[in-house]
Amino acid sequence: MTDSKTALRVLLTAQQIQARIRELGAQIDRDYPGGPIYLIAILKGACFFLADLSRAMKRQARIDFIGISSYGKGKSTSGEVKLTKDLDSSIEGADVLVVEDIVDSGVTLNYLMHVLRQRRPRSLRIVALLDKPSRRIRPVDVAYVGFQIPDEFVVGFGLDYAEDYRNLSDVCVLEEAPPAPANPPPR
Ligand code: PRP
Repeated sequence: MTDSKTALRVLLTAQQIQARIRELGAQIDRDYPGGPIYLIAILKGACFFLADLSRAMKRQARIDFIGISSYGKGKSTSGEVKLTKDLDSSIEGADVLVVEDIVDSGVTLNYLMHVLRQRRPRSLRIVALLDKPSRRIRPVDVAYVGFQIPDEFVVGFGLDYAEDYRNLSDVCVLEEAPPAPANPPPR
């Protein structure tokens, strides 16, 4: 899926990701001792994390999806967001865990938490596979973080660039490929 101008460098292997997800699942099981938990994944990127995290948990979990569009497609957000798909059910009185693939500027989750809080869940927390704290422009309280990563553009495990790369099992840095040598050495 790479073209001549881009290259992928593995940042987190599938094994590292799965091991960390098992730890997060066990920790969440311990922190929520009784009753069902509502896992809300933000479309589209968090679907892969939701699928693995929910199966790493031994407790009863219900899942739902919410769509948020951030204006400005490319490698950064414009800072404006809107709801594009709402939840199927009420979360009033529920223990809600928002499942996100990456927290970058914080614009998406800052907005979403504001929306969800108004629906009176019993508890409301965030679990994010990846966190880029150096990029934050809006405050977000992330209860569970898989990995803190540097400010590099990452793809894979749900994360895309122009809708490509989501189905990679590793998380990779999308880099500009070095230019081809003018006179390649003989093979
Ligand atoms: C990505 C990611 C988060 C959001 C994080 O979603 O999945 O939802 O950006 O960025 P922020 O912290 O700067 O708001 P995107 O809007 O690319 O949609 P997608 O999941 O469908 O790719």
